[in-house]
Amino acid sequence: MAKTGITLTRRGLGAMLAVGLLAGGLAGCGNSDTGGDGDSGSSGGGNGKLVIGFSQVGAESGWRTANTNSIKESAAEAGYELKFDDAQGKQENQIKAIRNFIQQKVDVIAFSPVVESGWDTVLKEAKDAKIPVILTDRAVDSADKSLYKTFIGSDFVKEGRLAGEWLVKEKSAATGPVNIVELQGTTGSAPANDRKKGFAEAIAANPNLKVVASQSGDFTRAGGKQVMEQFLKANPKIDVLFAHNDDMGLGALEAITAAGKTPGKDITIITIDAVKDGMQALADGKFNFIAECSPLLGPQLMDLAKKVKAGEEVPARVETEETTFTQEQAKAALPNRKY
Ligand code: AHR
Repeated sequence: MAKTGITLTRRGLGAMLAVGLLAGGLAGCGNSDTGGDGDSGSSGGGNGKLVIGFSQVGAESGWRTANTNSIKESAAEAGYELKFDDAQGKQENQIKAIRNFIQQKVDVIAFSPVVESGWDTVLKEAKDAKIPVILTDRAVDSADKSLYKTFIGSDFVKEGRLAGEWLVKEKSAATGPVNIVELQGTTGSAPANDRKKGFAEAIAANPNLKVVASQSGDFTRAGGKQVMEQFLKANPKIDVLFAHNDDMGLGALEAITAAGKTPGKDITIITIDAVKDGMQALADGKFNFIAECSPLLGPQLMDLAKKVKAGEEVPARVETEETTFTQEQAKAALPNRKY
């Protein structure tokens, strides 16, 4: 405790200690007493600040960059110390980062799991070390829900369903087959699994709508372009592209244009995310519809981190609010789009 220069009675000192402990608990400063990387092995570091270890998937898309910025800015605004690790798309790097955070005794571990499976062992290690874990953006498939405190992020199945429902309406007059190609996100990731599922469920309403090819473009522009080139070579008639994110859709635009087709006209394009570049393509008539996925999870994550560290109850699931955009709606929304 900082020296006050005030002489205290025993009762006064007791009261002050109690207030200090309570404030410390609420602020979640816990056992932190080292700055920097906490290599002392005795605490998370952070000079009394709440210390959060965050393992990010990577930097595969515009969405991911906006998500990273939101988390870094929100931690700085809240006055928390953020130990940020970029896993470069690899689960083994995330597991290594989480083990480092445990060793450093951070107050809270948060991460966006690159894939859904294979987390139980490391999550159990965090639980045994009494470090609360928050899942952000993507879920894990662990049966033991006590391995993490809460999951904050989008409903990916709903996003896929919204994309499919729009297509069902758009093609309601079709009398023959409508050939759809699908660019999936990273194999094994929650958004790829769930968006595929939601979309398939929705388009089942019209038997004319058929997915004729579906492959992963790993959520990147380069992946989207490369896989779309293959789709175009192998499928003489493609009516619709459903891309699991804007970046893959933007990569695919290049392949479609190079193949002499007009995106948004010859091929109807539906994507997910609604980052600025995607919204621009939609406003320009190159995309036809976007289901939004918000990356701005930072402020809620900081709030949840503070609460779990203080031992407060938090909801098991915090769902992000999202909308959808047509070309006209994108034109109206673009000037105020933050990411
Ligand atoms: O998990 C969210 C997804 O990951 C975004 O939709 C995609 O752009 C990102 O890479």
